[in-house]
Amino acid sequence: MQQIDWGKLPFGYFQTDYNVRCYYRNGEWGKMEVSSSPHINIHMAATCLHYGQEAFEGMKAYRGKDGKIRLFRWEENAKRMQRSADGILMSKVPEELFHKMVTEAVRLNESYVPPHGQGAALYIRPLLIGTGIQVGVKPADEYLFMVFVGPVGPYFKEGFNPVSMQIVRDMDRAAPQGTGHIKVGGNYAGSLRASERAKEEGYAAVLFLEAKEKKYIDEAGPANFFGIKDNTYITPKSDSILPSITNMSLMQIAEDMGMKVERREVPVEELETFEEAGACGTAAIISPIGKIVDRESGKEYNLSKDGKAGPVSTELFKKLQGIQYGDEPDPHGWVSIIE
Ligand code: PLP
Ligand code: COI
Repeated sequence: MQQIDWGKLPFGYFQTDYNVRCYYRNGEWGKMEVSSSPHINIHMAATCLHYGQEAFEGMKAYRGKDGKIRLFRWEENAKRMQRSADGILMSKVPEELFHKMVTEAVRLNESYVPPHGQGAALYIRPLLIGTGIQVGVKPADEYLFMVFVGPVGPYFKEGFNPVSMQIVRDMDRAAPQGTGHIKVGGNYAGSLRASERAKEEGYAAVLFLEAKEKKYIDEAGPANFFGIKDNTYITPKSDSILPSITNMSLMQIAEDMGMKVERREVPVEELETFEEAGACGTAAIISPIGKIVDRESGKEYNLSKDGKAGPVSTELFKKLQGIQYGDEPDPHGWVSIIE
């Protein structure tokens, strides 16, 4: 195996030894297969290539001080993938099969799970695609579920340091009654143009608004949004954002820390009143937001006084990572050890 500088890993693709696959044909899921090839062979008329029948998940495996490997709330990812499949009429992956394949993909690539204390983890990417052929706009009758993994560092290169985000009003990520609430490839295709422009203009990501009225905050490209004020954790409620498992966990941790939690519409102007803000997700963990600029008006919202992460975000980050890496008690039973 190649030498890996665990502390300097970017968030990106990393070739490991194995991946796992399973086909859905003739109305049933087949047997899990192990492959050492990163390639798949599919028909050019497969629905994933034409009509966007694709859903994915993002999870991480964390190595504790005890050397053991932990998964965080995998059942939630399994359930969300079922909702995604349902949303675009794909065959659902049964929870047990999802768990078996995720666990096997991690076990087979055990040597790539970063050591404890490096701020790195093994990223797990389950994905489900329509492989059956159609030329008319219809769902496929065959599907392929795969899981590949690779060691990663933080999604935003700034790590746990404040990033700048851009509010855009000339492009939307998801329609109000579209597919924003499920994890399907089309949402990400729809966000690429705005995200790449934001990066060119010096921002880490776009903070999308809900598309109908453009009055309220939806979420960042790859992560949910939260704001902190008056000992309260505030996060948007919207039908067009992805229900983040990290955010769901942070709401509970905030409550455990004695904070109030509000999940409600968050008007853009309210940004002025937040003491801290952040983006949260599996890949992003918590990324503190230092500045948000409204691209159309040029209005700037400063959310970090000294260019550092705020105290509440820091505590939330430590608690969450503490549970994920097994350094802190796990009072809600979120962590499972891979034997
Ligand atoms: N929002 C979007 C659009 C995402 O892609 C992700 C990443 O999965 C999240 C939010 C965060 O979700 P989670 O915390 O479940 O990883
Ligand atoms: C994640 O947080 O796991 C994601 O999937 C975000 C992004 C890389 C799409």
